[in-house]
Amino acid sequence: MSEQKRKPIVNWLILITTIVVVFLLGLLASSITQRKAEAVFAYTPTVKINQEEPRNDVWGKNFPREYQSYYETEDTSFRSKYNGNAMIDMLEVDPRLVVLWAGYGFSKDYNQGRGHVYAVTDLHNSLRTGGPTGPDDGPMPSTCWTCKSPDVPRVMKRDGVAEFYKGKWARLGPEIVNPIGCADCHDAETMNLRISRPALIEAFERQGKDINKVSHQEMRSLVCAQCHVEYYFDKKRPDAEGVPYLTFPWDKGMSVEAMEEYYDNKEFKDWTHKISKAPMLKAQHPGYEVYLTGIHAERGVSCADCHMPYKSEGGVKFTDHKIQSPLNNIANSCQVCHRQEAKTLIKNVYDRQDKIIENRDKLEELLVRAHVEAGKCWDLGATEEQMKDILMGIRHAQWRWDYAAASHGGSFHSPVEIGRVIATGIDIAQETRIKLARLLINLGFEGEVPYPDISTKEKAQKFIGLPMEKLEEEKAKFKQELLPQWLKEAKERESKYKTETIQ
Ligand code: HEC
Ligand code: HEC
Ligand code: HEC
Ligand code: HEC
Repeated sequence: MSEQKRKPIVNWLILITTIVVVFLLGLLASSITQRKAEAVFAYTPTVKINQEEPRNDVWGKNFPREYQSYYETEDTSFRSKYNGNAMIDMLEVDPRLVVLWAGYGFSKDYNQGRGHVYAVTDLHNSLRTGGPTGPDDGPMPSTCWTCKSPDVPRVMKRDGVAEFYKGKWARLGPEIVNPIGCADCHDAETMNLRISRPALIEAFERQGKDINKVSHQEMRSLVCAQCHVEYYFDKKRPDAEGVPYLTFPWDKGMSVEAMEEYYDNKEFKDWTHKISKAPMLKAQHPGYEVYLTGIHAERGVSCADCHMPYKSEGGVKFTDHKIQSPLNNIANSCQVCHRQEAKTLIKNVYDRQDKIIENRDKLEELLVRAHVEAGKCWDLGATEEQMKDILMGIRHAQWRWDYAAASHGGSFHSPVEIGRVIATGIDIAQETRIKLARLLINLGFEGEVPYPDISTKEKAQKFIGLPMEKLEEEKAKFKQELLPQWLKEAKERESKYKTETIQ
């Protein structure tokens, strides 16, 4: 055969050529992957961004894809079975909420959360912020701005943190105008993720943990944990006496019991219930805490993996900043990890939500009854001593209901834990109603305390005695008079910001 006759030198030549070709191919492949990686993050900055730049459109000049997708949170067209980005009046959907929150702002107005772009507008419009007429007027403290805007880190840096939390909500009206955005989550110099809110850093410090030492994957959840968490206003800090200082109640842990113990030890209450006089806790939105107890967190899946998946546009891969219900984007949010069809995955989510909500509704009705029965006991002349245990029972049962209801997405993020929390809530509510039945008999009352007619939001608000017309008039006046002044002042201030262009 001819090969056998080939001279050794030819064999050597073939071998060397092959090595060289393979080497060159390798170089080419590595350069391609490198380019690809560059394409992910490469950008040509057109402006120099200052760390405290609150205007999202200025950041958008350098990062148009992220900015455009962020701006799509403007969309309000998607509704899933229980969530989505449409404006839904939750008090209309479920008028029992009005009774549960009697005496507290949420009974006036409570809507389902919309996209981040609306954070400031929705706060202007909410009846909960009232109709202030000047900087020292209105029901809410300035602390309420903290989770709404990149103007927050800007003003905190300028004035100091405790100073920021001082005074009324209306005091900072002309300052806080840009909705949640880039500076809330990013360092302007490196574009790395950053924690801009002191409450989260301080909560870590009190537990002896350094937030600067967490992994990149944890940061993809912690940026959300700046806002999607349980919190309260601590007015008893020695270094800021009387200031409603934003604090996360995590010192004993993040479970429903650990936070309850924390609040009980401090004898903290958010308000006194108007009907039962119970010292109530309002769960805010323990989204991060509940997520941590679920299977996805356990397997290292972050908030951003599902709510900010990668997106491709013209061969460029970037992070989708349209933060929304992942059910509006199953292909990128779930199917990167799960092989199942979209309809199966949606069914998996709805099954969990349906089952949780079935029992949550039962707990809600028990709570309405307990408040009304406690109100009846007071009417019949019950003493503080007789009521003490009962009121603690109502506090603890409603705290569990609210922890489950307000941890938006919790029935999917961690169905087993939320199911457990509701079960313990039902248990406490039932025990409390047995005590109430005994006390009612003691006070000479027989039979059933009638369940109020709260079939609509209007009826429920009338039942608890809310002057809705007056509240709405005050709000309308605020929107006509003070709000335009705030926006004008802000525009003038921002027109003086300097933005350097890079050639
Ligand atoms: C600076 C505070 C803040 C940060 C940081 C933040 N959020 Fe939000 N988020 C809010 C507020 C406030 C709303 C409600 C806005 C409204 O209804 O006007 C909201 C709404 C949402 C909604 C509902 C939107 C819809 O269209 O249904 C989702 C989902 C959400 N956030 C997820 C996240 C995730 C995931 C992260 C982290 C990647 C995050 N958020 C970071 C404050 C924040
Ligand atoms: C709620 C937090 C949050 C907000 C607000 C936010 N980002 Fe991001 N951003 C992220 C996360 C999470 C990533 C993924 C980062 C990672 O894994 O390293 C990211 C990634 C990026 C990246 C890196 C490239 C990419 O697409 O992955 C850029 C650039 C960026 N964001 C720009 C912006 C701009 C511009 C804005 C304002 C319009 C903004 N971001 C607002 C959380 C946020
Ligand atoms: C980054 C990967 C990843 C993403 C993204 C992801 N999952 Fe998962 N999912 C997992 C892992 C891992 C498990 C645990 C199962 C295991 O370890 O075998 C899991 C478990 C589940 C389970 C079973 C949980 C239970 O209750 O026992 C469901 C249902 C589920 N995922 C649905 C979804 C849906 C819906 C989405 C999109 C909104 C999604 N997943 C996004 C990785 C992911
Ligand atoms: C495995 C995927 C997954 C992870 C991880 C995840 N979520 Fe969700 N989230 C969902 C799904 C699915 C829903 C239910 C959406 C629906 O019902 O339309 C949801 C709902 C929500 C909602 C309510 C959305 C609405 O439309 O009103 C918020 C807010 C939210 N998640 C925030 C977070 C935060 C903050 C984290 C991290 C601490 C997180 N999520 C982690 C999948 C995920």
